[in-house]
Amino acid sequence: MPAVVVLGVQWGDEGKGKATDQLGSRIDYVVKFNGGNNAGHTVVVGGEKYALHLLPSGILSPGVVPVIGNGVVIDIEVLFEEIDALESRGVDTSRLRVSSAAHVIAPYNRTVDKVTERFLGKRRIGTTGRGIGPTYSDKINRVGVRIQDLFDEKILREKVEGALDQKNHLLVKVYNRRAITVDETVEDLLRHAERLRPYVGDTPLELNRALDDGKTLVFEAGQATMLDIDHGTYPFVTSSSATAGGACTGSGVGPTRIDRVVGVAKAYTTRVGEGPFPTELLDDDGEWLRQTGGEFGTTTGRPRRTGWYDSVVSRYASRVNGLTDIVLTKLDVLTGRESIPVCVAYEVDGKRFDEMPDDQSDFHHATPVYEHLDGWTEDITAARDFDDLPKNAQRYLLRLEEISGTRISAIGVGPGREATIVRHDLLG
Ligand code: GDP
Ligand code: IMO
Ligand code: MG
Repeated sequence: MPAVVVLGVQWGDEGKGKATDQLGSRIDYVVKFNGGNNAGHTVVVGGEKYALHLLPSGILSPGVVPVIGNGVVIDIEVLFEEIDALESRGVDTSRLRVSSAAHVIAPYNRTVDKVTERFLGKRRIGTTGRGIGPTYSDKINRVGVRIQDLFDEKILREKVEGALDQKNHLLVKVYNRRAITVDETVEDLLRHAERLRPYVGDTPLELNRALDDGKTLVFEAGQATMLDIDHGTYPFVTSSSATAGGACTGSGVGPTRIDRVVGVAKAYTTRVGEGPFPTELLDDDGEWLRQTGGEFGTTTGRPRRTGWYDSVVSRYASRVNGLTDIVLTKLDVLTGRESIPVCVAYEVDGKRFDEMPDDQSDFHHATPVYEHLDGWTEDITAARDFDDLPKNAQRYLLRLEEISGTRISAIGVGPGREATIVRHDLLG
């Protein structure tokens, strides 16, 4: 029985939620291992649309145990809003497990996120404003608040005092904001503590025991390779490990126990927020992709930036994650184009780069070298087998497979759970 990591190849929103959900009935545990409510996964089941942020996508499949791992940062208010919204639609969330070692997004972290962005001006990251970066900063800085601290008010108070000592200097002296009090923070954090308690446990132990018992586990990443704190387009990244290694540190499961690493990639590319994006289209084609693909953020509603498929990015993601499979989503969106450009390399000041440039300035100045593939006009949303696809769609996929460094094992042809072509079983 395998342990499979599902992660994003590009800049997020590739359809990881759908890919995880689609495996639903065959898995026992779905583990979120990084990020927080900066993530937004839209999953469509039986025509019903669900927007998930903190909860792993497996929550929609009866019998699956959803786990929020130690690598996640949790906004408790948002967690219960999400639980209540799902319960009111008849989704059972009682199996949820939450790591006692996960960090808590305190209200002051949201404030710091917003004021820092404003202060950065044109150097801003374009964050989701959910307090993600400051909470991970506190974690690394060793002044963070963890879930287990909520069950000991004395310890919680000490930790909040320690964090606010630094923060209030910054907020008052640099950002000209009012000081935040320990009392209001502790009161806020404790509001849902008792309700949270039954979900909390030693999830690394529980997950390793599940593997010992032959259970099937999916580790679902938030964000994506190019937003990873180490391997992404730093500093225009999120603050956690969204690549394969993060699945281990963020869950407490060792690398020798992982069997497969599945990268989810869109048949084109999108990005939300600031930062370099070599294949970005600022013309009518870009607007066409945005409208046809419905490219508006699940979390912030922001229009996503759009561009053609970039195989330099896919090869890079294949390498840094050790991908075994790619799930290529949204192929249906490209229907109706006479010709589809695909980026095979970059050019920087007359020099060709076949691999991701190591130097940030080269990447910022990279222009795509395109190969033009023939398009198709037939509706492909009902295709369930590779052979059901028009010849040019097949050729598009085979060429992408050739230049992406990893086999394409499944193809998305629509948002619904069933709208998928499987070429190689991801759990086999
Ligand atoms: P995630 O953050 O990676 O889970 O992706 P999002 O949910 O933010 O964005 C992906 C969007 O594409 C969602 O609205 C999905 O319902 C939709 N989607 C996923 N796969 C497909 C597909 O194959 N075709 C189409 N048309 N939509 C898809
Ligand atoms: P999913 O899981 C797309 C982007 C933000 C911003 C940068 C840093 O749905 O793929 P943060 O709030 O994390 O400090 O913002 O990262 N970002 C995402 N973009 N999809 C996401 O998640 C994202 N999570 C963060 O837009 O540019
Ligand atoms: Mg998303």
